[in-house]
Amino acid sequence: MNQAQMMRYERLAVWAQAEWQRRYGDSAYKLLWTSESCGNQLAQSRIKPRRRLKGSVYYTGVEQIPCGEVISISEYVIPGRKVVLGETVGAFRFSFIHTSGAFDVLYVSSYYRDDDPNIVSVALIPPDRLDAWVNFEALCNEAVRRPTRRQDVYIVGGTNAYFKPTVDWDEVILPNSIKDDLRSDMEAFFKDGVKIYRELNLAPFRKLLLVGPPGTGKTMLCSAMAKLALQKKRVVVYVSGADDDGASFHKIHHALNVVATAGYPVLLIVEEIDVYLRKDDKARILNVLDGLESPNNGRGALLLATTNYPEVIDERIAKRPGRMDRIITIPTIQDEDVAFEMLHHYMGAQWHEEHAAVVPFLVGQTGAFVREIALHARMLAAHNHQRAVDLNTLQQSVDSLSNQLRTGDNLLPRRNIGFEADNNGSGSYDVPEEEESFPVGSASEDGLD
Ligand SMILES: Nc1ncnc2c1ncn2[C@@H]1O[C@H](COP(=O)(O)OP(=O)(O)OP(=O)(O)O)[C@@H](O)[C@H]1O
Ligand SMILES: [Mg+2]
Repeated sequence: MNQAQMMRYERLAVWAQAEWQRRYGDSAYKLLWTSESCGNQLAQSRIKPRRRLKGSVYYTGVEQIPCGEVISISEYVIPGRKVVLGETVGAFRFSFIHTSGAFDVLYVSSYYRDDDPNIVSVALIPPDRLDAWVNFEALCNEAVRRPTRRQDVYIVGGTNAYFKPTVDWDEVILPNSIKDDLRSDMEAFFKDGVKIYRELNLAPFRKLLLVGPPGTGKTMLCSAMAKLALQKKRVVVYVSGADDDGASFHKIHHALNVVATAGYPVLLIVEEIDVYLRKDDKARILNVLDGLESPNNGRGALLLATTNYPEVIDERIAKRPGRMDRIITIPTIQDEDVAFEMLHHYMGAQWHEEHAAVVPFLVGQTGAFVREIALHARMLAAHNHQRAVDLNTLQQSVDSLSNQLRTGDNLLPRRNIGFEADNNGSGSYDVPEEEESFPVGSASEDGLD
């Protein structure tokens, strides 16, 4: 067979064998297909020399070596702000040390053909060191998959790969006891809890569930928690149902893989977890919650899940201790202080003392409700060329929205699946058409005309 008839990988193998002979004479080797991740610069930079491998072997470093068969070409990725070199084809010498002496592995990779972007890679390995090499190869694979720590949320599913959470902790208006509880649970877990879980030989995976009616601020809280977590340099993974796949278990599965291999503490957010519990995959979700399939990330993983449906939770979760470590109710507005704060916030610059008169009507409503009545009143006032929102206009907004909710004709715009929407400026609400964005009762209608 002459050179021209040989397959690409055969030429690589022939070159590698000759190189082996030149360097190590007749010492034995095994020729193996191997993972292209070993040539990936991300893996090479992440796996540090002195890393211990199976069989009391230590990795000591990598060196690129000249090879007439392949021109070394790198690909780049932009996982964060910086460009990072990713895959590289070419020849490398990986070195290792064992108590019985040092040894090398020769590795060479190349694109398969001109018209095929797949990479073929082969390695020559001392036969008694296969264990260590397979271990090393697995580390390379993992290093390439691992998300880089970044200032954005990593999305599994959905239509964007990353987004920035925009909600500040102070923007979420809820009783302080609830907010403090949630925040200190996360901090205590990552600071001390992870160690305690590990001492008990448990995977450090903590699970919190936010339960509450639509529009009380669960998605907002998730977004604010994500922002806090990123400030603490944790990785945030968000499972989104917002794509063609909807809520499928393979997304959760993928997310759990990312969580397990992240190498950093992770906040994992799964909104509307009830959807997954109703589908065929519910047994697998329960396995995850029970610990059978839960990710083992030594730095800790905190699951923050949300649902509107306490009944689903009741049966499968609340009655089975340990499935969720804590269930936190995010209620409607419980008292006038919170109502006042919410109204004040959403009236913004338009706030006037007299508006406080509607506060008693807001108890029992949601943050989404208050936002809508405030927006609506401000819009009406602007439409009527009023410089300020008077109490009458505000009261009309409250009345018309309450009426419409009472009649069950709930035109409250349905919230988006998650806080991803924050990124494209539409907030957490999916408002399809302007006219429908607020239920217009007769009084308000007059105002709009
Ligand atoms: N506690 C709150 N503080 C401030 N604003 C709120 C609060 N609750 C709701 N809102 C307003 O209502 C919008 C919708 O709230 P959010 O999407 O967080 O509700 P949710 O509890 O996730 O609802 P769902 O259960 O339907 O997903 C928010 O974007 C915000 O404008
Ligand atoms: Mg929500």
